[in-house]
Amino acid sequence: MTITWNDAAREWHLANGRTSWVLRVLENGWIGLLHAGAPLAPGPSYRHLGPASFEGYDNRVNEPVGLALPGPGIGDFRIPALVVENPDGSTVLDPRYVGHRILAGKPPLPGLLPATYVEDPAEADTLEIDVRDEPTGVEVTLSFSIFRDRPIVARSMRIANAGAARVVVRMAMSATLDLPDADWTLITLSGTWARERSVVERALVPGFQGVGSLRGGSGAEHNPFVALRRAATTEDAGEAWGVALAWSGNFLAEVDVDAHATTRLRIGIHPDAFAWPLEPGASFTTPEALLAWSGEGLGGMSDALHGLLRERMARGPWRDRPRPILLNNWEGTYFDFDHRRIVEMAKAAKAMGIELFVLDDGWFGRRDKDDRSLGDWIVDRRKLPHGLEALAAEVRGLGLQFGLWIEPEMVNADSDLFRAHPDWAIGIPGRRRTESRQQLVLDMANPAVVDHLAEAIGSVLASAPIDYVKWDWNRFITEPYSPTLPAARQDEFFLRYNLGMYDLYERLVTRFPHILFESCASGGARFDAGLLAWAPQAWTSDDTDAVERLKIQWGTSLAYPLSSMGAHVSAVPNHQTGRLAPIDFRAAVAMFGVFGYELDPTAMEAAELEAVRHQVAFYRERRDVFQYGRFLRLRSPFKGDGNEAAWMSVTADGSRGVAAHYRVLQRPMPVRNRLLLRGLDPAARYEVTAWSSFDAPLGTFERGGDELMRVGLGIEPQDPLPAGAWADGVRIVRSDFRARLFDLRRL
Ligand code: GLA
Repeated sequence: MTITWNDAAREWHLANGRTSWVLRVLENGWIGLLHAGAPLAPGPSYRHLGPASFEGYDNRVNEPVGLALPGPGIGDFRIPALVVENPDGSTVLDPRYVGHRILAGKPPLPGLLPATYVEDPAEADTLEIDVRDEPTGVEVTLSFSIFRDRPIVARSMRIANAGAARVVVRMAMSATLDLPDADWTLITLSGTWARERSVVERALVPGFQGVGSLRGGSGAEHNPFVALRRAATTEDAGEAWGVALAWSGNFLAEVDVDAHATTRLRIGIHPDAFAWPLEPGASFTTPEALLAWSGEGLGGMSDALHGLLRERMARGPWRDRPRPILLNNWEGTYFDFDHRRIVEMAKAAKAMGIELFVLDDGWFGRRDKDDRSLGDWIVDRRKLPHGLEALAAEVRGLGLQFGLWIEPEMVNADSDLFRAHPDWAIGIPGRRRTESRQQLVLDMANPAVVDHLAEAIGSVLASAPIDYVKWDWNRFITEPYSPTLPAARQDEFFLRYNLGMYDLYERLVTRFPHILFESCASGGARFDAGLLAWAPQAWTSDDTDAVERLKIQWGTSLAYPLSSMGAHVSAVPNHQTGRLAPIDFRAAVAMFGVFGYELDPTAMEAAELEAVRHQVAFYRERRDVFQYGRFLRLRSPFKGDGNEAAWMSVTADGSRGVAAHYRVLQRPMPVRNRLLLRGLDPAARYEVTAWSSFDAPLGTFERGGDELMRVGLGIEPQDPLPAGAWADGVRIVRSDFRARLFDLRRL
């Protein structure tokens, strides 16, 4: 058991040797948080780390109390975890210990809330603490699951109305975390469309700081993930916290530093535009938050989250399977294609070694532009006269898998669906409905809409041999309102929207378990831990420019594993930036993820097609490294002038890996530059093969793991490589957009 209860001290200790959480029943019955983070020995009591009791206002100064369930109006004055409007309109609770359970394993969350899971009860233990507010009968269960082999605690909270009158949950955070000092730097992943998940850092200051979304989806602007690091923390040393929310809707992630320099972090559903009335007997459960502590830098934090999200958040047969290399026609054709053109592209894709052809937007209704037909999930016979089935069969006959784009949650005003059911589009009767990308969002809080979509999309997926689905979501929600909810329950709308979306995923994933789902939202605007439960991979960004992608993929990797990141090579000039980067540079960036192409192969020159064939062969041979390896960040594109970046990935058994160094703009007479690798066995010898294009290596040499990690690899031309290797290499070395890959094999 990783959870112990010390009856004499009334203290719990969650400890697995990699992290510890110590909680205690304070003398007034409140639950105190004495410690969270670094591992402590499980035996002794730690009650001296906090005051004996919580008496409100008086014991805050000089003796800050870590509270497991802080509320408003109690003299704590920091941001609360739970706000319940009582029958008398007040919001003060007095939650006192009632009892607790220690369970082997991890019970699922109720309903459709995505959550991490165990396959064997020995993988985790769960502590459930019950507290009760006597005057109202509000009962709260605080849940903490600690994974045996991961420095992670999963948290959620259930609020039940065991009283006689209705109460309203006004805010319920999935987790709060009280830390005894404020010497932390907050990291958020912020940006916008085509610039998702930039690493933004700020040293904590007194007061509030944080990010969130009120867009109805987790959003491209801020990700439902934050980290804290010490000033001296690096990629492989020092303390860091990584906190991720398994939720795809509105969220808040906030830190409050009080006057005495204590830190409280909270994460959960955004309390604006949220309220959940509870009639007597009813309950509400928050989504799950994952709190990873690392004493081994940001790398250790990412390792822990990557493993958990990949292995115990993602579900279904595709969780561990090699993901196919795809060709998507979007940037190759946009809406302008027909059966013949798609088959021609698929033939060319097959000749390059591609495994999956994905037909993107434009195959249904009369969708020649983005102003029409969303909602009409019927094949457009003008473009595809033989239907989807014949097209899919023909593509599959070439030896490819067949994938399809859908955007189920949306509707255009110019569609048969909207004409038949205008009330199914989100909007407030009598008010303007804001369009974005000329489309409206369907009311997923309305069960009739979800039923209709399960049927409509289900028929499409059943109509043809479809192996893969790209599920898009191309705008945020405005004028939130559902006619299916009474006036007093409209604040449930956003949450019910998300549950409706999860419901649709659940039904389709259950009906079509063989299909690989990839989520997408104008690129990476719904890239969160929750959606991975149904779609194990996500389209990382509509920005396919390789230089931009260095930052996007680096930032995304703070929380999310390579197996979740769709990454494609597109044509030049790049459609987002106009940049002309060589195709091998573009591929060298996209390979670190779930690899593919997004261009028209029938428009490519023979030499480029040949280059692609070599790239695909290179990736196929190392697919386990690129998709399921341990990802280690080496040089940040967010540091300095951003001209360089480097990272690597190593298989779980450490026998194979690939390290990559990227230089955006070349400089004459480069300075001496050695790249220190990580994650290797210092006692082992490695065969290192350097590549710059993928047709032939630059050279092969042998090095010790110790040298590779402590002295590093020369990445400039004057550094030693076998004689002759540069005859070909110099051409590439002396240019902008230079990638160097080092293939590593343990001898
Ligand atoms: C979004 C996606 C793109 C593409 C288009 C199609 O922008 O992110 O990849 O599918 O929609 O309309």
